[in-house]
Amino acid sequence: MLDSFNREINYLRISVTDKCNLNCNYCKPGNFKEFLPGDILTFEEILEVVQAFLPLGLKKVRITGGEPLVRKNLLYLIENIAALPGIDDLALTTNGILFPRYAQDLKSAGLSRVNFSLDSLNPDKFRSITGGGELKNVLEAINLALELDLTPVKINTVLLRGVNLDELDAFIDFIFRYPVHWRFIELMPLNDREKWRQQFVSVKEILETLSGKYDLKPGKTVGGSGPARYYEVPGALGTIGVISPLSNHFCEYCNRLRLTSTGKLRLCLAKNQEVDLKSLLRSGISQEELTGVLREAILRKPRAHEFGEKDFLGTMANIGG
Ligand code: GTP
Ligand code: 5AD
Repeated sequence: MLDSFNREINYLRISVTDKCNLNCNYCKPGNFKEFLPGDILTFEEILEVVQAFLPLGLKKVRITGGEPLVRKNLLYLIENIAALPGIDDLALTTNGILFPRYAQDLKSAGLSRVNFSLDSLNPDKFRSITGGGELKNVLEAINLALELDLTPVKINTVLLRGVNLDELDAFIDFIFRYPVHWRFIELMPLNDREKWRQQFVSVKEILETLSGKYDLKPGKTVGGSGPARYYEVPGALGTIGVISPLSNHFCEYCNRLRLTSTGKLRLCLAKNQEVDLKSLLRSGISQEELTGVLREAILRKPRAHEFGEKDFLGTMANIGG
């Protein structure tokens, strides 16, 4: 359905857990605490929300976390969402570490495609950014996703000055060897503001650096209508994309709501405007009533986010990236 700014809201991002098997500093705020099992929605409760969204025109669902694959029996949720009428895109955002173990089952359950978070192609640096992750698992995961046609495969890299900016050429080299869409994301300020200032790299700088070396041509949107802008590099099998939540708002085209792992419906990534669906679900709300709550929430979706204006109180792990 259309919100009050004439945007079609047809995409739900579901964070199934705030837990993660990696520990990337920029993803968590200083006061991060994990939620207890009773705090998070059950799969049945998540399915109730998805079902109530269907009559409003839900088409796209993304499963995120934390790391979604650390949640037990995730395949059950994927299977049940895939079986719903009208969902034509069911995607997963993962760090890829556990992906090889589940890849075939995810495909069989009806997953359409995968986005991988990957900030370095150097095994030692990868370990240091993630607090001990093994790069080879992620590379194996990307290969498997391509083999199983869980495509388009997208890679998300948060560029950090002094950490991985020197790897730009290695990232570009990758798209010459694999048909993946490598997306560079501006660092959003979640914890230490001073560190954020030091590490932040703007999309403008990324594009300037890359255009000095490669013949970038603006490309088409790849698979869906996410926030990335894409560029083609002649001769490459994949493309590059940029996501600029700070320097260039894409709020005008925003098509999504978020469901946090604790059952808050979040109307915008970076605004603390939420509807507590968990308490409604647990007080026995009917599906029709829930659809009404979602309709009313969509009409209250804010025009734009507010990075920088106020401190961003959320956590990527709980909100789901
Ligand atoms: P596609 O449909 O595959 O393009 O997915 P996506 O880009 O929507 O999803 P993904 O989980 O891969 O997110 C990539 C990056 O975009 C993450 O850093 C997200 O935090 C950021 N992002 C996604 N949606 C929003 C949004 O609504 N607002 C802002 N500011 N950032 C977003
Ligand atoms: N700024 C930008 N992107 C972030 N992500 C996590 N934390 C941040 C941040 N502070 C990204 C992850 C993942 C996606 C879901 O969110 O790298 O790719």
